[in-house]
Amino acid sequence: MAIQKVGVVGCGLMGAGIAQVSAAAGFTTVAREVAPELVEKGLKGIEKNLARLVEKGTITAAASGEIRGRLTGTTVIDDLNDCDLIIEAIIEQLPAKRELFATLDKICPPGTIFASNTSSLTITEIAAATKRPQRFVGLHFFSPVPVMKLVEVVRTISTEPAVYEEMLAFGAKLGKTTVRAHDSTGFIVNRLLVPYLLDAIRALEEGVGSIEDIDSSMKLGCGHPMGPLTLLDFVGLDTTYYIANIMFEEFRERRFAAPPLLKRMVLSGWLGRKTGKGFYDYADAQNPTAMKF
Ligand code: CAA
Repeated sequence: MAIQKVGVVGCGLMGAGIAQVSAAAGFTTVAREVAPELVEKGLKGIEKNLARLVEKGTITAAASGEIRGRLTGTTVIDDLNDCDLIIEAIIEQLPAKRELFATLDKICPPGTIFASNTSSLTITEIAAATKRPQRFVGLHFFSPVPVMKLVEVVRTISTEPAVYEEMLAFGAKLGKTTVRAHDSTGFIVNRLLVPYLLDAIRALEEGVGSIEDIDSSMKLGCGHPMGPLTLLDFVGLDTTYYIANIMFEEFRERRFAAPPLLKRMVLSGWLGRKTGKGFYDYADAQNPTAMKF
């Protein structure tokens, strides 16, 4: 079955990015959020990104118009009932994802493929909320979605090989490089990235270096585009905290355990860029300053 219409559930940072690349690749795309203001916020962000691409001459104004024309927003879950593929990018919590897919399973035809953008939950456990685990995969994108080249395509022991191949082809149609991953918690990237990010916090806690020096070290010493503490603010400290807890629960290894400082920052509402405060203060977004603890 050829994918023509794509549904994206969740129109936050990840969902909006996925909807944008889907529409840009020529798929009719419908993005669903729970409230009209969230739909509007997601679509406005996409429009801003497209305007920037036109300004830079990456795409023409006509192409931008066509992409926007392929994209609709909705709060009505039933509007996804004629999608060939639905990609979920909602909050990283298992009960919410299971409930969503149980609903989608009832309203979508049996042929619709379901995908979760979860970064750490077990795909098998989400798929088990449906009667179609054979048509269920993980499609794990990276932030910012329009820029990052990778999609991890995750198969469970139930995923039908033909569905898996179709999802690899879909990732390529989005212009992404796909990698194959088994349904192991954190897949490939987060299995390696999360312990590194948590170790950067531990290094800070133990006074190995300052926030700026830890970041400069990895940027200039290893050629990373962002230092680990800047990256944590970018990804969101709450998101990293959820992921770490899920991975620790699965593997019971210290390298996945959330450091006390991370927990305290999340409890204080310091979630990184999105709340204006994390390891850096973003009052002046162009010139963030390191926080003092
Ligand atoms: N949306 C769309 N485009 C964006 C963007 C956004 N949010 N942010 C930056 N860009 C574009 C810019 O327009 C620019 O495009 P051109 O080259 O065509 O001009 C390009 O990205 C580079 O941006 P900048 O020059 O402004 O800044 P930069 O060189 O510092 O790059 C970055 C920004 C791409 C974010 C870079 O710093 C980077 O790669 N950082 C690391 C990001 C990363 O590691 N992401 C993965 C996080 S882990 C994850 O997402 C998964 C998980 O499960 C937790």
